[in-house]
Amino acid sequence: MSEQHPVSTEQAQRELDLIELVVASFDGAPDERLRTVLQSLVRHLHAFVREVRLGEAEWNTAIEFLTAAGRITDERRQEFILLSDVLGVSMQVVAVNNEAYANATEATVFGPFFVDDAPEIRQGEDMAFGAVGEPCWVEGSVRDTAGDPIPGARIEVWEADEDGFYDVQYTDGRTAARAHLFSDENGDYRFWGLTPTPYPIPHDGPVGQMLERVNRSPMRASHLHFMVSAPGFRTLVTHIFVRGDELLERDSVFGVKESLVVDFVKHGADEPTPDGRDLESRAWSNTRFDIVLAPAGV
Ligand code: BEZ
Ligand code: FE
Repeated sequence: MSEQHPVSTEQAQRELDLIELVVASFDGAPDERLRTVLQSLVRHLHAFVREVRLGEAEWNTAIEFLTAAGRITDERRQEFILLSDVLGVSMQVVAVNNEAYANATEATVFGPFFVDDAPEIRQGEDMAFGAVGEPCWVEGSVRDTAGDPIPGARIEVWEADEDGFYDVQYTDGRTAARAHLFSDENGDYRFWGLTPTPYPIPHDGPVGQMLERVNRSPMRASHLHFMVSAPGFRTLVTHIFVRGDELLERDSVFGVKESLVVDFVKHGADEPTPDGRDLESRAWSNTRFDIVLAPAGV
């Protein structure tokens, strides 16, 4: 198995016999899917242990790591999802569950900062609700893969402020930089948000320590989250990223897809805004994101 540490035929047979014994222990599982998943998991875990010839001290370190991940996890902090994110597993699950379909917009990682029941805004309103950052006019359309508009699509948007914090990380419990709106009768939408800025994933726990040990940065490329749903269509969870952001190449959770990188155009404070809003001498930006939903069930 391992080229650095070849084992004798007898030793290899012992190891393989153990795998078959463990796999067979699940043969009686009445739920076929559960049986398939667990037997495959056992085969892959054993292959991993054999391939790296996992030491007992290393096994202990892994147990300590998982224990620490459990200790820091509560209803607000989910270290196991974070671990899945930095190992690229979350993005692989996204890929497997959102198969490429025609010109449908690509999905990306959900992340831990979505909140149900974010306030509703009307077209052109501001989802920042006082969060600090450069105002950004965001507009686009929601269409099906044939190009027909989808009116009434529910569009959830959320993002970090310019200091890199989501509202759920504030200590005063206020809601900011998140909202939902509905596409209009032409399938179009528009709102004010914030120009996205980079921020680190939570890195004060075991996952952060692991990243540090391997010289990896916890930073995410600047992004604005979207979740778009409409009856008869596959719900799309995605982000847009900022063209030119140097972190696009090394997003800590592997969420970047080229098709999701869009232009954010900078405007001086003296330039008129698309809707005539007075930004009180603040510079602003604008972007466009045209969304294409795949049909449900593909
Ligand atoms: C986020 O984009 O909000 C996020 C995604 C994965 C891990 C942490 C944060
Ligand atoms: Fe995010």
